[in-house]
Amino acid sequence: MCGIVGYIGGRQAFPVLLNGLRRLEYRGYDSAGVALVDGSGSLKVYKCRGKVADLERFTDSKDVGGTIGIAHTRWATHGEPNDVNAHPHYSQSGNIAMIHNGIIENYSVIRDALSEHGYTFQSATDTEVLVQLIEYIRNTSRCSLLEAVRSALKRVVGAYAIAVVEKDNPDEIIAARKSSPLVVGLGDGEYFLASDATPIVEYTDKVVYVGDEEIVHICRGRELKVMNLDNEQAQIDIRTLELSINQLEKGGYPHFMLKEIHEQPKTIVDCIRGRIPADGSEVVLSGVVANKEKFMGARRIIIVACGTSWHAALIGERAIEDMCRIPVEVEYASEFRYRNPVISPDDVVIAISQSGETADTLAAVELARNAGAFIFGICNVVGSSVARATDSGAYIHVGPEIGVASTKAFTGQVTVLTMLALTLAREKGTVRDEKFRSVAKGLVELPSLIEKVLSQDDKIKDLSKIFTYAHNFIYLGRGYNYPAALEGALKLKEISYIHAEGYPAAEMKHGPIALIDSEMPVVAIAPDDHIYEKTVSNIQEIKARKGKIIAVVSEGNAAIHSLADYCIEVPVTEECLSPIVVSVPLQLLAYYIAVNKGRNVDQPRNLAKSVTVE
Ligand code: M6R
Repeated sequence: MCGIVGYIGGRQAFPVLLNGLRRLEYRGYDSAGVALVDGSGSLKVYKCRGKVADLERFTDSKDVGGTIGIAHTRWATHGEPNDVNAHPHYSQSGNIAMIHNGIIENYSVIRDALSEHGYTFQSATDTEVLVQLIEYIRNTSRCSLLEAVRSALKRVVGAYAIAVVEKDNPDEIIAARKSSPLVVGLGDGEYFLASDATPIVEYTDKVVYVGDEEIVHICRGRELKVMNLDNEQAQIDIRTLELSINQLEKGGYPHFMLKEIHEQPKTIVDCIRGRIPADGSEVVLSGVVANKEKFMGARRIIIVACGTSWHAALIGERAIEDMCRIPVEVEYASEFRYRNPVISPDDVVIAISQSGETADTLAAVELARNAGAFIFGICNVVGSSVARATDSGAYIHVGPEIGVASTKAFTGQVTVLTMLALTLAREKGTVRDEKFRSVAKGLVELPSLIEKVLSQDDKIKDLSKIFTYAHNFIYLGRGYNYPAALEGALKLKEISYIHAEGYPAAEMKHGPIALIDSEMPVVAIAPDDHIYEKTVSNIQEIKARKGKIIAVVSEGNAAIHSLADYCIEVPVTEECLSPIVVSVPLQLLAYYIAVNKGRNVDQPRNLAKSVTVE
């Protein structure tokens, strides 16, 4: 939700900022803008509706000189996406410019108060209110910019990552964060600022993750200063990035999403590296091992997540209950946080988030913390807010996921959840050794199985052409593959904009079957498992109503051909791992349908990769 970038140093700021915005465009792409301060003390702001490429065109032949600047790519919350609502926003005098990621909840109260002091507002944004408040405090208290920002932030309610620059002040950027991410990159005589490390990694691998409710004072040629809202100096913890620039490029693929789908054999290897030996004899998830008494003593496990991560959680629920016999509840983080849930200190709460920045998931973590539960995070982005807000956790290690539609993160999350279930099950003695080894070995073999699925890329591309103009889709699955059906439907709707629903296959007859006619494509996930025959009966019910069936079945299943209109075969694996194997062709199907429809696959409309607003 909005990407912010800043630079101060010896280079020209504009190319650095533009490059950074391109890296952060996955966070929002409604509008983009930049503010530059040059040596002569002028503050230049350029902004426009649209993408970073539109900003680039807009600034062509404009004066973009200056070695200090801030820039923003927007996912609209307050005010429609247009030029005026684009960031940066100016203060009344035009002396201060600010970019913001987050929501200022009490903005209307502040705006009313400022209006009484003669302030007027150009935009419909909450951001403009905050920059005006900063100027008001700076003028009335005759304080420094840093002090004005600190004082203003003490008066706002909400979430923010901000960066502020001032005319006549070409040596200073003030930044701060609360509940929205912010990273400072430390170069040689230069500083970078960004919502995440991706714009920074090509310049330096030394970063500082700004803590919650901290303010950063970045001055040219001076040491970085970090303080809290009470002006107390904070400890500066310099980290080394483990991110390579190649991971941020498309690597010859037309879209990040296709690249990320094809990366899955490798990302699963990365995910299990050092955690399972080749023979599957053990599984070591260190965050679980180090806290085994918490898990062993757990009355129940509650998993909180959103979107695709929530679908992974449903698969984890099945695996943990099946193998560990610990009750598991899966909650939408956004519902959990507002429904006064019963949480006790002997509950273990698992928060799953690819980005580690999802506002609802963070709020659910906070709620669980206040109730005294032990909190375990499963994240991809190292050093992210969820990773830092939890007591312990496990990274999925799948590398940066840039396509808005989650693919490799989903399979990584399910892999980690399965390892977690195996670790606990062995500790509790609730799994037979044979079963343990078979699932652990199944995880080791997953990359080669996924390779086999990916070799059907062309076949799925051909299949996609038949369904490009469908208006609706239904995805069916049972057991472990009911969440896979939900995930398949989500992939299709978010990137192709075709309406799609996932259902437990047997639930169809309780209502949704009324939707079935010869125009309705139904993706039926029916690998060989203990309820295969039951799923086939459900497929029969669809067939009897002339639905068009695309069956995802185990290799060598000849019988299904008489029933299904189209078949995708996937290799046989352990039942609990089948959602990983079946998800890959569903990702490809969604991808190709979206491409056929000319959609912007990596940046679908209305979405953003990291949802930092509630
Ligand atoms: O970063 P998170 O895993 O917390 O994100 C949660 C959802 O916003 C995310 O999975 C979303 O549903 C994806 N666009 C799905 O592809």
